[in-house]
Amino acid sequence: MPASVTKADEGHPDAGVAVRGRHRPLGVLLLAAAAEVRPPQTDRPTLEWRTLLFVTYDRPPTDGTATMPIKTLQDRRCLITGAASGIGRATAIAAGRRGARLFLTDINDAGLQAVAAEIRGAGGTVSFVRAADISDHGAVAAMAKEIHGDHGSLDVLMNIAGVSTWGTVENLQHEHWQRMVDINLMGPIHVIECFVPPMIAAGRGGHLVNVSSAAGLFGLPWHAAYSASKFGLRGVSEVLRFDLRRHGIGVSLVCPGGVDTPLVGTVQIVGVDRDNPRIKQLVGHFQRRAVAPERVAAAILTGIQKNRYMVYSSSDVRVGYWFQRKFALPYELAMRGLNDALTAAMRRAQRG
Ligand SMILES: NC(=O)c1ccc[n+]([C@@H]2O[C@H](COP(=O)([O-])OP(=O)(O)OC[C@H]3O[C@@H](n4cnc5c(N)ncnc54)[C@H](O)[C@@H]3O)[C@@H](O)[C@H]2O)c1
Repeated sequence: MPASVTKADEGHPDAGVAVRGRHRPLGVLLLAAAAEVRPPQTDRPTLEWRTLLFVTYDRPPTDGTATMPIKTLQDRRCLITGAASGIGRATAIAAGRRGARLFLTDINDAGLQAVAAEIRGAGGTVSFVRAADISDHGAVAAMAKEIHGDHGSLDVLMNIAGVSTWGTVENLQHEHWQRMVDINLMGPIHVIECFVPPMIAAGRGGHLVNVSSAAGLFGLPWHAAYSASKFGLRGVSEVLRFDLRRHGIGVSLVCPGGVDTPLVGTVQIVGVDRDNPRIKQLVGHFQRRAVAPERVAAAILTGIQKNRYMVYSSSDVRVGYWFQRKFALPYELAMRGLNDALTAAMRRAQRG
């Protein structure tokens, strides 16, 4: 049964390209094994192995125009939020080197202009630079209208901008929860709302990158507000990876562990004095284990080009997520231990 995308991308040079895709089930036979630790009838968990014999692989619809994965970024129109700093900046520079046509945004105008100048100075193409607050739907919608009017629909959307606030539930104020959800969850949703439908209508396929976090996979101590946003973004990604597949649009969920970016300095720990020497020591410990933002940028670009859903930038998160899914009880015990250890360290720091 052919699937079709016929709506053209009005007002753009590519307008009129009507794509008719085709489902071509390949019926690939795979052998996979899934392990499951069952909640017990008794108090003891039982390990049950299931063997899945058939996995039907359904090739994404395409007539050769909509391509998935995006094999090269050369001349691809890429929107990057949070481009002024850290992971967003490193990704913009790396994508510029690979020939992408960049559309950059960030709330920090000065930082954004500096990154755009750096990329242009190195011979990269920056087609659009605009300071905007992604939590403001009106600002994102206005930006999208201008971009679509001047350049047509985009090929790659990268939701990278974000902020971080930690704290116990007794210390977190309403504004902290609200800010996490507004910027880290509603921000990417605004970008998806405004930029994905024209991408679908253009029928060329594309890719959506959502930067979540290890805190979008695990219940890390003091991360409730941050995790509310990052688990939420993971939920959106989990649905869209299947919904958008028929349009030839891939989805990547990026889950970095520690990354040595300015965010480490700006993370707000409510109820804790960041200048406290013990806290500085803890932050220093985090920074020593953190990876460079360039490593995350490289993982993101590889994730796009190989159409990977889960994108890791460090093996601790990859192994931890595998462990969580395969060994539920030991995972729970390990997380209790981690929570006790970190809470004790924070309390010691609070006492000075
Ligand atoms: N640094 C880490 O250890 C780490 C770990 C896991 C996930 N992350 C995630 O990676 C992403 C990038 O973080 P980073 O470490 O590069 O931090 P960063 O502070 O270096 O960069 C974040 C950028 O987002 C921008 N920004 C903040 N609020 C904005 C808003 N309302 N509208 C538009 N732009 C806004 C900032 O100005 C900044 O340039 C974030 O989503 C963060 O949650 C970071």
